[in-house]
Amino acid sequence: MHDRFLRACRREPVDVTPVWFMRQAGRYMPEYRALRARYSMLELCRTPELAVQVTLQPVRSIAVDAAILFADILLPLEPMGAPFDFAKGEGPVIFEPVRSVEAVERLRVFEPEEGLGYVLETLRLLRGELEGRCPLIGFAGAPFTLASYLIEGGKSSHFEKTKLFMYSEPAAWHALLEKLSEVTRRYLRAQITAGAQAVQLFDSWVGQLSVDDYRTYVQPHVKGVLEDVERTGVPVIHFGTGTATLLESMRDAGGTVIGVDWREPLSAAWKRIGHDRAVQGNFDPCALFAPWPTVESRAKAILDDVAGRPGHVFNLGHGILPTTPVDTVKRLADFVHSYAGQREPSEP
Ligand code: CP3
Repeated sequence: MHDRFLRACRREPVDVTPVWFMRQAGRYMPEYRALRARYSMLELCRTPELAVQVTLQPVRSIAVDAAILFADILLPLEPMGAPFDFAKGEGPVIFEPVRSVEAVERLRVFEPEEGLGYVLETLRLLRGELEGRCPLIGFAGAPFTLASYLIEGGKSSHFEKTKLFMYSEPAAWHALLEKLSEVTRRYLRAQITAGAQAVQLFDSWVGQLSVDDYRTYVQPHVKGVLEDVERTGVPVIHFGTGTATLLESMRDAGGTVIGVDWREPLSAAWKRIGHDRAVQGNFDPCALFAPWPTVESRAKAILDDVAGRPGHVFNLGHGILPTTPVDTVKRLADFVHSYAGQREPSEP
């Protein structure tokens, strides 16, 4: 059933639990590494024909129930006026980090068809390629996570520069998040117009914040984006990691589906979120390195915990790591489908 992912997002009954994997296209796949030997990460993103190929790689070799656009959450930074690159071994590097009121003022809110037309073209091509196979997910970075890259200038462990800016320049912080929210809102809407059938908002690093700080500095901005995008009727997945203390606040900000990481049992997290939302998760990506019987029993534990309640999308709690064995990922997708198929349907 090719629409079981979208059905689960809407909490409708499904034949078997749908599954896809965050970062399902990437370096753990030999086909991806072969293309990366010839093109840089940004070349792959900026060339629609190549981005289509990379998106389809996992769809062809793993029994996933959704395709996720191949792109990166940082792509909007360049048309905003903050160019960056991926440095080998270091991750992203933003050439001129944003650390002043003036730097925030200089950032531009752009039209997605102008600034990121190549991503929208990739989506349009993908819909043609995928017709009848599985739905297509678009995505964007959430304002806090994007702001953290802009301010830190790259990856960070403690987010001290981000928090310093947030605490010492609250007006500029809110102006920055407002610009990022407007860019994200337009970008997600443009992706939906171009053919995305669901979208995921990645607030990967928001778990660094206390509940109070989340509610003060982040939630109003995210809420504005999610409320607007949900009006399209397309399911919106609201994702973060390290968010065990933030789940209720993230739910209040919005999302048709809430992403849950592995730090709390999925059923407990779902109860806190409320059963009027769908959930996505929550296999520990590091557990993919375990021997197969362990992988299987941990996947079984998640499915047993959910017990067939409609509205579960099986996924990892965060992205696949580059050294993950492909075969384990394939077996896990097959197992999720076969195990769910053996189970008795649950009481409504
Ligand atoms: O999921 C998918 O298959 C779709 C593609 C996708 C990528 N990045 C490709 C990518 C998606 C959805 C992302 C999102 C993304 N990018 C996030 C949020 C998700 C998360 O993991 O929390 C973040 C924080 C980024 C920023 C980013 N992009 C970092 C920190 C890095 C470097 C990581 C590293 O290990 O080097 C990237 C690069 C990147 N984005 C790669 C891929 C496949 C690796 C590029 C390469 O081939 O070298």
